[in-house]
Amino acid sequence: MAWIVRLLKSSLGAKYVMAITGIGLYLFLVGHVAGNLLLYFGQDAMNAYALGLRHLPYGLLWIARIGLVIFFGSHITAATYLTLGNQAARPVAYQSKRFMKASFASRTMPMSGFIVFLFLLYHLAHYTWRVVAFTGERVDSLGRDDVYSMVVAGFQQPLISGLYIVAMLVLGVHLHHGLSSLFQTLGLNNARYNTFFRRVFPLLGWVVVLAAASIPLSVMSGCIR
Ligand code: HEM
Repeated sequence: MAWIVRLLKSSLGAKYVMAITGIGLYLFLVGHVAGNLLLYFGQDAMNAYALGLRHLPYGLLWIARIGLVIFFGSHITAATYLTLGNQAARPVAYQSKRFMKASFASRTMPMSGFIVFLFLLYHLAHYTWRVVAFTGERVDSLGRDDVYSMVVAGFQQPLISGLYIVAMLVLGVHLHHGLSSLFQTLGLNNARYNTFFRRVFPLLGWVVVLAAASIPLSVMSGCIR
């Protein structure tokens, strides 16, 4: 037991927490974006899916929601711990701004993470709590919650679509570094596969993020209406 507490209090433990919760959050995103791609199949497909989620058996929806909150909370806490720890270890800023090996994505991880967090608060207010641009109760002809029309109406506003697209790009940069450093954090470093990991893992993030960004773009261009 004591070793678990020690591990969690160490920066190695914090890195593990970040990596494991990061994988969980990424998997949630894959499922969430895949579900939202049903918008391309029309109102019936999307609303049936949304209704199905709400009526999952055994309280699964709430179990997933509580899991998400725990994962987000742990990810942010570990990130804050590591960032503050790094700063404390290097109280005097580097004289030179020529960063040797660190990429743009890795240097901006705290900033991109913070922007994604702000986006998420907006997104929840927009589509889950429905306090942003809410124009009354929407139900379809079968009396189901009309998630399809709500999302389309949201993305028909250029400012909202623009905000989502920018947020998706920032999320893409965040995932780019998060996913490419994952295998190192988890000790999966392997000379034979490193090049493969380094090339393929960042792509996994961009695929999901670009699929998500395609939704506001398709509404704006009239492909989804
Ligand atoms: C264009 C892309 C996206 C669309 C169209 C979209 C759509 C939606 C909709 C319609 C809901 C409400 C579902 C409901 O109450 O029935 C929702 C909830 C949510 N979205 Fe998204 N989303 C997108 C991107 C994202 C991204 C990038 C994230 C994470 C960074 C995210 C995280 C969430 C979370 C955590 C919830 C709450 C889930 C729940 O209440 O159970 N979404 N999204």
